Amino acid sequence: MNKAPIGVFDSGYGGLTVLKEIVNRLPQYDYLYLGDNARAPYGPRSFDTVYNYTLECVQWFFKQGCPLVILACNTASAKALRTIQQNDLATIDATKRVLGVIRPTTEIIGTLTKTKSVGVLGTAGTVQSGSYPIEINKFYPDIKVYQHACPMWVPLIENNEYSGDGADYFVKKDIDQLMQQSIAIDTILLGCTHYPLLQQKIKQFIPEGVALLSQGKIVADSLADYLQRHPEIATTCSKGEDIAFYTTDSAEDFDNHAAVFYGKAVKSQHLIL
Ligand code: DGL
Repeated sequence: MNKAPIGVFDSGYGGLTVLKEIVNRLPQYDYLYLGDNARAPYGPRSFDTVYNYTLECVQWFFKQGCPLVILACNTASAKALRTIQQNDLATIDATKRVLGVIRPTTEIIGTLTKTKSVGVLGTAGTVQSGSYPIEINKFYPDIKVYQHACPMWVPLIENNEYSGDGADYFVKKDIDQLMQQSIAIDTILLGCTHYPLLQQKIKQFIPEGVALLSQGKIVADSLADYLQRHPEIATTCSKGEDIAFYTTDSAEDFDNHAAVFYGKAVKSQHLIL
């Protein structure tokens, strides 16, 4: 049988927090996950580097038969998605689709904030790109967006320190620096797919009444809606409930780390791009 799975991409493990919610919401499809662990983190890298890495991975997904690829990485969505959609797809294969994680979140954020003041936490790359303020203001011009980069959070998570005492210092410091920008912030968006692992800690340090928003469920709902509105894409995605995992680094390392992101054990294969 020729499979046409939905591709889900991240620089490493973070996209697994999104894949988990997508599979919960749409269990009937086949999925192919790729973590570019060998070249992670993407957060501190330049536009050109993130774009080149992401495009290379997207082309791999297409070669595997994926009609649709989700960039389950904010950094890749911020720095590569637009160019891939607007320039590359037409020359690679105009029937294919690539979607990101920023737009689904920005579409609904205006329905959640009462003070019209939103905080966004992300990697340095996502924050520097300005993608969140730009996209949120397209839908909600009256919302003020305050951003803060948390460069220590991904290393803390990837080194299994996300629940230890050492994480408290950086989580508190970064939350304080975000909240110092405006006391009106009533909604904080976790604009990095790694950050849900720090959710319990973050909740300890945010002021009472401030809501914390992570992307997994939002992206899953948005994908379900997209597939309903685009039957020409939905019908090309195969339905076999199969999920395959690939990593550009060690498969053994990936399997050891992946379970905390995905919620259950995974068995991955090593990919040489
Ligand atoms: N998970 C990626 C994101 O959502 C960040 C990880 C990295 O820096 O590679 O932005």
